[in-house]
Amino acid sequence: IAMLSGNTNFDIYNVTCGPGHGISVGSLGKDRNEKNVNGLTVRDTIFAGTSDGIRIKTWESSASTIVISNLVYENLQMIDVGTPINIDQKYCPYTSCQKLGDSHIQIQNVTLKNIWGTSRNKVAVKFQCSKSFPCKNVHSSDINLKHNGVDGPAITLCENIKGSATGKMIPPHCLN
Ligand SMILES: *[C@@H]1O[C@H](CO)[C@@H](O)[C@H](O)[C@H]1NC(C)=O
Ligand SMILES: *[C@@H]1O[C@H](CO)[C@@H](O)[C@H](O)[C@H]1NC(C)=O
Repeated sequence: IAMLSGNTNFDIYNVTCGPGHGISVGSLGKDRNEKNVNGLTVRDTIFAGTSDGIRIKTWESSASTIVISNLVYENLQMIDVGTPINIDQKYCPYTSCQKLGDSHIQIQNVTLKNIWGTSRNKVAVKFQCSKSFPCKNVHSSDINLKHNGVDGPAITLCENIKGSATGKMIPPHCLN
């Protein structure tokens, strides 16, 4: 499932997702005329064997300057998922988009609550936000994700993000 330009107020629940790429917002940022994405709830869902669980993907050096806001992710089980939580604002499938600048898409008001299970990648939670438009108002609570591999426990990556965390946090969070 992918939320694209102009999608608003979706409520996705009770889905068993996989194989595939999980449930995403984007990719966005490729076209100048894109519209905001506002209001998405994903809840009571199982991801099994997907490359990502929940993902927000915007192009590096994006053409549009839209806002992605008011997203709620709640009660999600991850079973052997590549990267269970993945905000990627450096999406760049072609070498041509490197060096052209940051994503100009603002991500804000994101709630992540009660997400558990297993990750194939060591970076189980990735928050790679735009340097020019840092993610803001991201709240995380009760996350319990274990790395399935042999190279140590799961970790979180934070770049250019403002937010907070409460409750159980495995891997340890890096929000502030
Ligand atoms: C969720 O899916 C299950 C299995 O398909 C179904 O039995 C149940 O009624 C669904 N629950 C809701 C709230 O739709
Ligand atoms: C984000 O949340 C804040 C505080 O709840 C609210 O004032 C603001 O309007 C929200 N932003 C958007 C784009 O909805």
